[in-house]
Formats: sequence, C-alpha cells, structure tokens
Amino acid sequence: AKPGLLAGKKVVVTAGGTVERIDPVRYITNDSSGKMGFALAKAAHAMGADVRLITARTDVSPPEGISVESVESAQDMYEAVMRQFPDSDIVIKAAAVADYRPAQSAGSKLKKKGDTMTLDLVKTTDILESLGQQKTTQFLIGFAAETDHVEAYATDKLRRKKCDLIVANDVTTAGAGFRSDSNEVRVFDSQGLVLDLPLMSKEEVARQLLSLAAERLVKEED
Ligand code: PMT
Repeated sequence: AKPGLLAGKKVVVTAGGTVERIDPVRYITNDSSGKMGFALAKAAHAMGADVRLITARTDVSPPEGISVESVESAQDMYEAVMRQFPDSDIVIKAAAVADYRPAQSAGSKLKKKGDTMTLDLVKTTDILESLGQQKTTQFLIGFAAETDHVEAYATDKLRRKKCDLIVANDVTTAGAGFRSDSNEVRVFDSQGLVLDLPLMSKEEVARQLLSLAAERLVKEED
C-alpha cells in the first residue's frame, strides 16, 4: 500500500447484502459476504483516509479501527450514505443492494394459508443513481455484479448512474465475486477499459482500485 496517498480524504464504503423484511422472522437478501467492501475500507484506511464504512448483513466481522455504521435494508443504507455524502471525497458502492423489497412488511409472523403465496415487491431507491444525480466534486465508484453481457451491462450502469468508475464483476468466474477471498474484475470509465485485474485477493483488488481513484482525484484537483 502507499501510506498517505489518501491522507485528508474522506472515503465512504458500503459493504454486505441488504435485508428486506417480509415479517419479523423472514427476509430477502443475497450472497454478499462483505469481504470486498471490508477489503476496500481496510485499504483506504491504510492509505491514510478518513473511512466511513456503512455495512448491511455480512458473514465476516468488519475490520477494526474503522468507523462502522450497521444498517439493515436498502432504505436504511440510502439514508446512511446520504448523511455521509456531502463532504466525502470518494464513495465506493461495493454493497449488494436489493432492487426490490416486499411492498408490506408484516408486523407479526405470517401464518401458513393456501398452497401458493404471492409476495408483492416494490422497487427500492437506487442509492448509486441518487449519488450520481447529486454529486458535485465526489468521485463515485460503482460495482456491477453480472452473469452475462458483463461489459455492456457494466458500462450501461456507469452511464446511467453517472459513476467515475465502474468495477465489472463477472460473478460466474470461479474464485470471483460473492463470498470468495479472491476476485477478478475489469474497471471501466466513460472512455473504456482502464484496469484489467486477473484473479487476485480482494485486498489486492482494493489496493489497486484505490490507487487508481487517488491518482484520478489528484488530477481533478490540479
Ligand atoms: O461481499 P462479497 O461476498 O465480497 O462479494 C462482493 C460483491 C460481488 C458483492 C461485489 O464485488 C459487487 O459486485 N457488489 C455490487 C453488487 C450489486 O448489487 O451489483 P448491481 O449490479 O446489482 O448494482 C450496481 C451498483 O448499484 C452497485 O454498486 C450497487 O451497490 C448499486 N445499487 C444497486 C441497487 C440499489 N438499489 N442501490 C444501489 O446503490
């Protein structure tokens, strides 16, 4: 790592998978373990940044010595990120955020009834897209977890959500994506491919990504 590279910078990182309640004991979530987001928070901290980690449900404990805010749902994460956003320098959205949540969250445990059951879902707020619309000087990094048309879908997200960088994560690659300790990613900006990282530890992906962000931040300030 390059110590001091991000000194004086506020870096907001989101991690984990959001939990969308159906009733007090049941919920919808996803496979995010939190490892990628935690590696990013650790790397930013090692580079001297003031790190704010906002984390939904994870399988591992967050790194020590970093300010952590735990949230449950996409809406909770939206509110926590928005509070940190105005004076942040870099925002990295590694969390796997639910696109839909149950239209109603029952206050008491639902009882078993007929042979089938229909769950009505409504769209959540897209946090990254909201950040893209509101950003002034913040450097915005999104992730795109895809199973097919990886480059096309990732670069479409980059444009729609007005990110500075998008990290395309082909989650069908063995040893990459959800849960594993390693990852293999390609990073795009609005001009095209800027980093093509072969399979490596999530810690190393985090260091490379933050070095690139730090470089670009300095350029923007010049
Ligand atoms: O946690 P790990 O087990 O280490 O796994 C890492 C990871 C696979 C979760 C991570 O590398 C990753 O790809 N994270 C993004 C997962 C995701 O939700 O991708 P997406 O393509 O659905 O969303 C695109 C971007 O929009 C993401 O930055 C996401 O945080 C953001 N988003 C999505 C929906 C929403 N309502 N709000 C958002 O901000």
